[in-house]
Amino acid sequence: MKMHRSEEIWLIISVTVLVLSMVVTGYQTFALGMGPPSNTETIDPQKVDETAPFDEPGVYKVGDNEYEVVMTLQIFSFTPGDIEIPAGAEVTFTMTSKDVVHGFQIAGTNVNAMVMPGHIQKITQTFDEPGEYLILCNEYCGAGHQAMATTITVK
Ligand code: CUA
Repeated sequence: MKMHRSEEIWLIISVTVLVLSMVVTGYQTFALGMGPPSNTETIDPQKVDETAPFDEPGVYKVGDNEYEVVMTLQIFSFTPGDIEIPAGAEVTFTMTSKDVVHGFQIAGTNVNAMVMPGHIQKITQTFDEPGEYLILCNEYCGAGHQAMATTITVK
């Protein structure tokens, strides 16, 4: 059976596009380090209370207007809760779960993460607008899931 010339051309074009996109994706992932982070930091979920920095959850000033919030998530709360920071602060949340998978969503921002037992999750967000921001758990984690919430007050 003989192929049409145009069929051949399109076959070559589609294979070329396929190979090129694999090469580009591979280059970005391995040469440029643009691949998604994969479980870079882990922790023993049974020993969160004894493992730094989670042995002392809290809000820490780490720079001019930079803060680190070391936070544990557990059924059905965030520790620490009711956080206060000054306007314009850049806040890095370092989080882990002590039991099941929880969610960490800050209403009115793009912050939306899964926090899993055994893994350390880090997210940085700058809070320019003063106000009260609601933190919600958006992964179903049990009977008290709906009540798992707290706030960040920016002033
Ligand atoms: Cu924690 Cu839902």
